[in-house]
Amino acid sequence: MSGYYEKTCTAPVNIAIIKYWGKRDVSLNLPTNSSLSVTLSQDNLQSKTTIRADPSFSKTRLWLNGIEEDVSANKRMQTCIKEARRLRSLYEQQLLRDGNSDVVPLAEYNLHICSENNFPTAAGLASSASGFACLVYTLAQLYSLPNSTSELSLIARQGSGSACRSLFGGFVAWEMGVNYDGSDSIAVQIADEHHWPELVALICVVSDAKKTVGSTAGMQSTVKTSPLLKERIEQVVPKRMEEMVKAIKNKDFNMFAEITMRDSNQFHAVCLDSFPPIFYLNDISRAIIKLVNEYNAISSDYKAAYTFDAGPNAVIYTLRENVDELAGLVKRYFMGEERGQIPSSFRVDAVPILEKGS
Ligand code: DP6
Repeated sequence: MSGYYEKTCTAPVNIAIIKYWGKRDVSLNLPTNSSLSVTLSQDNLQSKTTIRADPSFSKTRLWLNGIEEDVSANKRMQTCIKEARRLRSLYEQQLLRDGNSDVVPLAEYNLHICSENNFPTAAGLASSASGFACLVYTLAQLYSLPNSTSELSLIARQGSGSACRSLFGGFVAWEMGVNYDGSDSIAVQIADEHHWPELVALICVVSDAKKTVGSTAGMQSTVKTSPLLKERIEQVVPKRMEEMVKAIKNKDFNMFAEITMRDSNQFHAVCLDSFPPIFYLNDISRAIIKLVNEYNAISSDYKAAYTFDAGPNAVIYTLRENVDELAGLVKRYFMGEERGQIPSSFRVDAVPILEKGS
């Protein structure tokens, strides 16, 4: 058998509106609570991955944003590749049993993997989510895997928890599951990317810098030291998940906005409750929170909802009718010449919630 096989795919970023923060099993990447996110349109923020399988490759190699990385040092990447290969092997056996004589033994071939993001890596803009989702999706395409998207989400989850949600477009829940082996800790779609076309995300890039405390280390510290986390995972999140699903299904922006902001606040509160405390927000992030609150105060309904992941960059959800007004406000407030302290990289992009991975 000769020749190579190659696939290129893209995967979008997702931004959680009910945050995943805490692992009950670090090696299987099982969370302490369920979470829910919105997948953004991929034109603005996406990962793109090309994978080539070739019998002549002497080892599997990886390039991230043009720079070669040591795959053997990246355990999560290895786990994803191993799991995808295992599924491919099973599939090959199935094909052989079904009488196909020309099955290509792709599972045995080494791979060359090239992945790039069109946005800053590891700056709290969900680069690991789109990156691992893209890796798993591209492997599944290369291997022609017959598995469902939720089954593939089990693999992406082991690369990076939030990655399991980026395999779907639209509104996506990651159900924490109860099984010790993680077999029910999967992503499921709540509503597809066409469900709520009026919803838009404004991405406010406050900083392109790499985050100071990585998610995994931060989560482990919070799980060990924060008494507030217990309250959050037992008393708060289960109810919020139900309410948020309702808000999405009914396209109830008021409910959606309030839960989104409260959940972002509580996530940063458990970070602050960790010991030593973890700070992801900076002065500009806090000024954005204040601005959104003031904007919301001028009408009886919420018009905008901020949320922050493990970094200072804000995502503000709003309805399309408010985008120009809100983006103008944010730009005037933060990008006016008198605001010397704002980094020159500060920018605001409006991203629709459409389409999923291709
Ligand atoms: C704050 O998915 O990056 O963005 O599983 O350790 O890779 P690992 O963590 P990761 O954590 C994301 C945390 C968050 C909230 C969220 O996306 O739900």
